Amino acid sequence: MTSILPHGGTLIQRYAAGEQREELLQQASANKSIALNTWTLSDLDLIGVGAFSPLTGFLNEADYQSVVTSMRLADGTVWSIPITLAVDDKQAASLAVGDRVSLIGEDDGIVYGLLDIESIYEVDQQLEAQNVFKTTDPEHPGVSKLLGRPATYVGGPITVLNRPQPEKFAEFYFDPAETRQIFADKGWRTVVGFQTRNPVHRAHEYIQKCAMEVVDALFLNPLVGETKSDDVPANVRMKSYLALLENYYPENRTFLGVFPAAMRYAGPREAIFHAMVRKNYGCTHFIVGRDHAGVGDYYGTYEAQEIFANFTAEELGITPLFFEHSFFCVKCGNMASSKTCPHPGDQHLTLSGTKVRALLRDGQCPPPEFTRPEVAQILIEGMSPEVSVKS
Ligand code: ADX
Repeated sequence: MTSILPHGGTLIQRYAAGEQREELLQQASANKSIALNTWTLSDLDLIGVGAFSPLTGFLNEADYQSVVTSMRLADGTVWSIPITLAVDDKQAASLAVGDRVSLIGEDDGIVYGLLDIESIYEVDQQLEAQNVFKTTDPEHPGVSKLLGRPATYVGGPITVLNRPQPEKFAEFYFDPAETRQIFADKGWRTVVGFQTRNPVHRAHEYIQKCAMEVVDALFLNPLVGETKSDDVPANVRMKSYLALLENYYPENRTFLGVFPAAMRYAGPREAIFHAMVRKNYGCTHFIVGRDHAGVGDYYGTYEAQEIFANFTAEELGITPLFFEHSFFCVKCGNMASSKTCPHPGDQHLTLSGTKVRALLRDGQCPPPEFTRPEVAQILIEGMSPEVSVKS
């Protein structure tokens, strides 16, 4: 096993197996039930396998209040994003503390898990939005999701009885216990985690490879849960990652596995959350570049780095690696950042996401200094209107 401890010290495992699972499944039909959407279902599963260690369930009231106000669980452990289960008023009225409820997929009726209710509580969504997203603007995709949910939450420990099955790329789904074992088997003592919700462009590649110069290996860990509709769909991204790894990365020092969580777009707070989760997967280091997990202009370019200063290295337990905004400098003839390049901005190639998408939609490759041609080709195919893809 890698030497790094999971967040909170123990890798949480909350799925039932064998006879116990059969029994719980049999009893489940007699329970009251709560329907879960895809987002909450992914949270349930990630809690179950320990990706969200030390969480053992959806946040109860004390933990929720503490996370929202001070980025810590009630016991003081660092935790920056509330992982919660919202229910409407009618449903809330039918539930009581102490109840065991079945958690059912809203689309398929499958009993995915059980929740032992510890608390039922009303929240101030405006306060949650302001503290977690630093804005109450309903145009913000994370705030919009939050405000679209009821303001009553139920919290308590969960047990997973069934796992959601990936439609595609199932071979790239690994639980934290598995990645930890894999990294250990490969003899990697230091592993840097890389979060992304985008195709890997040259700037991403550059910061990954800078990190790879100082650690044993890279864990490319793209988020493939729910993202906003104009992000590149996960299936297309997965193909692009495979093409990139095959052509430009040493096989014995890279590992690709997905992170099946929803994207919150919470910028700084999400950077902390992303780092804690990657620690659970066995990473010792985590890359935080420019505007990590940001959207629009809601966060300053380096706010997601600055937030780490609120915690001690011990509390975090994973080493963040911070990178400046990177670009291709024509004069240098290579990738660089303001830390390494003395040339003025007109020598730097930077393209906005909107511009890149427009090029790809027109079937044109962005310049190779921006995106590897193998990646661009896959993105062009993926964006053609005939290809129907799901994120
Ligand atoms: S994120 O929402 O998943 O963070 P994205 O996939 O764009 O978005 O970024 C993945 C990681 O690469 C983040 O840590 C981000 O800060 C970093 N990053 C993206 N583009 C650049 C860039 N041009 N220079 C430096 N870091 C970058």
